[in-house]
Amino acid sequence: MRIHSAVVVSFVLLAACNTNTKLSVQSPSGKIVANFELTGNGQPAYGVLYNQKPVINPSTLGFEFKGLPPISDNIRVDSFKTRSFSEKWEMPWGDQRWVDNTYNELKVYLSERKAPNRRFALIFRVFDDGVGFRYEFPAQPNLDSVTIIAENTKFSLTGNHTCWWQPGDWDIYEHLYHTTPLSKIDAVNSQSKNPLAQTYIPENAVNTPVTMKTSDGVYLCFHEADVNNYAGATLRVDTVNLSLETALVGNDSGIKVKTQTPFTTPWRTVIITDKPGHIVTSKLILNLNEPNKIGDISWFQPMKYVGIWWEMHLGKSSWDMASGKHGATTANAKRYIDFAAKNNIKGLLVEGWNTGWERWIGFDDREGIFDFVTPYPDYNLKEVVRYAKAKGVNLIMHHETSAAPRTYEQQLDSAFRLMHSLGIHSVKTGYVGKIIPKGEYHQGQWMINHYRKVVEAAAKYQIAVNAHEPFKGTGEWRTYPNVIARENFRGQEFNAWSIDGGNPPEHLTILPFTAQLAGPMDYTPGIFNIKLKPYKPDNQVNSTLAYQLALYVVIYSPIQMAADLPENYEGHPAFQFIRDVGVDWEQSLVLDAEIGNYIAIAREERNTGRWFVGAITDENAREININLNFLKPDIKYKATLYLDGPDAHWDKNPTSYRIETREVDRNSTISLSLAPGGGAAISLFPL
Ligand code: NOJ
Ligand code: CA
Repeated sequence: MRIHSAVVVSFVLLAACNTNTKLSVQSPSGKIVANFELTGNGQPAYGVLYNQKPVINPSTLGFEFKGLPPISDNIRVDSFKTRSFSEKWEMPWGDQRWVDNTYNELKVYLSERKAPNRRFALIFRVFDDGVGFRYEFPAQPNLDSVTIIAENTKFSLTGNHTCWWQPGDWDIYEHLYHTTPLSKIDAVNSQSKNPLAQTYIPENAVNTPVTMKTSDGVYLCFHEADVNNYAGATLRVDTVNLSLETALVGNDSGIKVKTQTPFTTPWRTVIITDKPGHIVTSKLILNLNEPNKIGDISWFQPMKYVGIWWEMHLGKSSWDMASGKHGATTANAKRYIDFAAKNNIKGLLVEGWNTGWERWIGFDDREGIFDFVTPYPDYNLKEVVRYAKAKGVNLIMHHETSAAPRTYEQQLDSAFRLMHSLGIHSVKTGYVGKIIPKGEYHQGQWMINHYRKVVEAAAKYQIAVNAHEPFKGTGEWRTYPNVIARENFRGQEFNAWSIDGGNPPEHLTILPFTAQLAGPMDYTPGIFNIKLKPYKPDNQVNSTLAYQLALYVVIYSPIQMAADLPENYEGHPAFQFIRDVGVDWEQSLVLDAEIGNYIAIAREERNTGRWFVGAITDENAREININLNFLKPDIKYKATLYLDGPDAHWDKNPTSYRIETREVDRNSTISLSLAPGGGAAISLFPL
């Protein structure tokens, strides 16, 4: 273990009135410094410096409880300690293999100077890519069961930064991101329309991850890590004083968190960097979570998958049987399995396989809409599993709970037992609609505990979970590597049916710097039939075909869907990229990026030495030069380039593409002309 010294630059304790105690701790390289102090009236506060300049001005900390006095001022520092830590840990699957976790820590023990003399501690961890801090409340006679009604953690900013934000919705993250100065954030009036989900945006707050750029070119990303038996946080925006404050998601009884000492809060996190690419590759959130708790995960293998899925979103078939065009039939599943087996695709998702879809949204769970074990009569589950296995394809189970978690919890054992008995190792869950019981929200403590219960139960049955309409990721995939992906953003499905025209080309030039910080994303890329003919004359995917290919590299997930219908891939030369592209990576490099404009990423596949490059742009055409100096020396590579055609355009000519091959090495550069809403995908195979 490498040891770095945690530098405490000042510590002043006045015997009579210890209210101007100042402590500070710096990151291993010294670039980032976190300061702790008590304000004049004894309220704990902190600030952060980056390259000697403030990025967070002194910001106060505190709590409000139901039936108890708040914790705010009149606090004293009892003691403090510092610690340095460094380790390298291996990701069982991931966007890179080895993760460096090196930080300096300051722990400040605090207590109230007056009754009830409650004690708590603040822990700061300072890394070279940012800061995390959390509160710790030990067991104590004057603080046992508590109901938190507000966590008053402030982030006082140093200017009117450019923000990439989405509203602080208590239910659903399926919003487009907005790009505005902090002073112009208007979350309540910013809703986008999602016909499948309800949304609740109670105040001018943003969801995390939220990313900002200062006028000095410093990037700040606010999020949280290790959320466990607590509420999710949004950040209330003060557009006048240019600050943020933690605004916990609650329920309709006004409760934010019900807990008991001893407890710790989630980490409040800020990634700080002057390179946008470092946001994408930061491992700060993961490092602030505990190591793997579930042990061997070799039963889950990263994979590409197809699904009886897009055809429902297009209206070609349906989830339910009553419509007369049921998608999940034995014959259709076999058609997809044949296609997957032929094309190096290891997974098949089947939605609409279980009875109940005739009336699935908004019904009370006690009526047992879904039982997760009874297939529709035209779907022979056992036979489909047998057929898939014989062809080397794994089924992915689907559990749409329709936001009725109590029923799901009652069914968990039977549902997972069935999966286990069939050798099915992954499930896509869904929580469409308002939470039943009414008054709870997707991102409140009650639901967060539900999502965790599902993950823990799944681990016992060797099942990996891809949650849609989830609670955002906060790095628990380190602790529970059976959390493989989620949908905490507006996915591809919006392009099939959204009444606002779907996701603009710029959407995916923002997600890597925002939503992706919450962990692997089940975006479901790869639509080739961009205009959705003949099914959806009024909708389309807003990108070129090459952009769709690039997404397999730009987005990180250990499961990547080849989302389009098999008939749109059959015989298509560009499908070769989807066949080839990796899903498990040795390392990932952001080659070039500007948030909201473009991004180019290179990733090295584990165990093969193959590299893949993906680049996308927003609605503007762009030239990008890719320097291949990341390739191994003394090796030649065969590069296959999937490029926008010269006349390609996301709307006017989205399927215009060309494929080129060349021999390259680490001295080569490749210049790419990205069309408006376009992209490029490159595979690099050692020769
Ligand atoms: C919403 C999910 O995001 C989508 O992927 C799924 O098909 C539907 N719910 C039905 O469960
Ligand atoms: Ca969804």
